[in-house]
Amino acid sequence: MSARQLHFNAFVWPNGYHESAWRVVGDDGQDVLRLPYYADLARLAERGLMDSVFLADNIAIAEYRVTHLPQTQFDPISVLSALAAVTTRIGLIGTGSTTYNKPWDLARRFATLDHLSGGRAGWNIVTTMTPLAAANYGEPPLPQHADRYARAHEFVDVAIRAWDSWDDDAVIADRARGVWGDRSKLHAPHFHGRHYDVEGILPFPRSPQGRPVLVQAGQSADGIALAARYAELVFSGPPSIEAAAAFRRRLDEQVVAAGRDPAHVTLLPALMITLGGTEAEARARAGRLEELASADFRWQNALYTAGLDPDAFDPDAPLPASLWADPSTVSERARQLFAAAQARPQVPLREVAQQVTGGAGQMHFVGTPEQLADHVLAWQDAGASDGFTLMGSTLPYELTAFVDHVVPLLQRRGRYRTEYTGATLREHLGLPRPRAGAMDPDDPSTAD
Ligand SMILES: Cc1cc2nc3c(=O)[nH]c(=O)nc-3n(C[C@H](O)[C@H](O)[C@H](O)COP(=O)(O)O)c2cc1C
Repeated sequence: MSARQLHFNAFVWPNGYHESAWRVVGDDGQDVLRLPYYADLARLAERGLMDSVFLADNIAIAEYRVTHLPQTQFDPISVLSALAAVTTRIGLIGTGSTTYNKPWDLARRFATLDHLSGGRAGWNIVTTMTPLAAANYGEPPLPQHADRYARAHEFVDVAIRAWDSWDDDAVIADRARGVWGDRSKLHAPHFHGRHYDVEGILPFPRSPQGRPVLVQAGQSADGIALAARYAELVFSGPPSIEAAAAFRRRLDEQVVAAGRDPAHVTLLPALMITLGGTEAEARARAGRLEELASADFRWQNALYTAGLDPDAFDPDAPLPASLWADPSTVSERARQLFAAAQARPQVPLREVAQQVTGGAGQMHFVGTPEQLADHVLAWQDAGASDGFTLMGSTLPYELTAFVDHVVPLLQRRGRYRTEYTGATLREHLGLPRPRAGAMDPDDPSTAD
């Protein structure tokens, strides 16, 4: 298949990625707590021949969020295991934290998903940003950003060793001789690093993909370095086409410096979409979502995503200037909020925070299916992306509109598959199957 084929992930978030989605969709407010809701979305994405269904993971939630929108953060691997049973081809990507898991255990759970789904598992590697998670796990406070990434490198390294602890041909199942597996094909990690000690083999053979597909969305220098070393799918990126193309070049350079092939890193930036039969209809739908947005949610969320406690601030006063005294400790989200506050020092927090929208710094496309098809093609032509991780502002409406109206346009242009040609997520993405024990994650399989 040519390099110009597009790829898409369906990012599934309760009723859609916009915070007001749940107020405009026609469910009973609790459908999002039941399996049929997710099963229908996964089958829809599969009908659209998308590469994967993608689930986030937030392992602690601040209570203010409960007031404003549905909270449905199930364990992603459990949900994806259920979805494996009701789909046959689509990839199943789940998010997992390197700060609040043990590498052997998480490697085992993703490899289980890879077996149960016939090779469709992917792991979105996150280091966790919320300071609330530590207390849920009985851990000391959230480690510093650089420390989290140092652990993440070691964590992924150990997970790979666990996945590679059985050679592909370790199972013989020779009934006549009474030998099920060849012990000489086992390679226990015996790993002793700075952060982790992992001794033994996984308790089952190597999974269909060898290793689940590694996914990453870091935006900082440390995040990009982790992606360059390990990620096979990246879904962060800046919002303009020029900046995204520059991000792509920077990432590719680092991928090459890490000894890998940039052709083996698919870039699918997150894109929130609101669609309509006409541009006016799409704008009206997006406008309605914004009208319903709660100003209270916005200021609390702006603080929370900047790593601050919303309960400690007065929304009717300006944000205290002392907060940005030490710029070295603040995150990208905090920088956005502080910049908005510094630009209008007398304006109350409640008003300033309205400027700082969006959950993950993602872009919002509003328009018709034709316009979205043009947008996607323009980004690919500019080398800014290989497609997108689509976040419907509402679900299932935006995903249905994408599958029924955008996909046929892209197929007619010869830029999108008309059927799945592979069985595994690696095959959908054109990725090699790593050989067990290969130090370079790109080292293609010679075993099969
Ligand atoms: C679209 C998108 C979705 C994300 N989903 C999650 C998530 O589910 N859980 C999580 O802990 N972090 C999530 N993140 C955060 C990233 O993993 C990363 O920590 C963040 O972009 C900050 O980058 P940095 O760690 O390089 O500073 C997401 C980021 C983006 C752009």
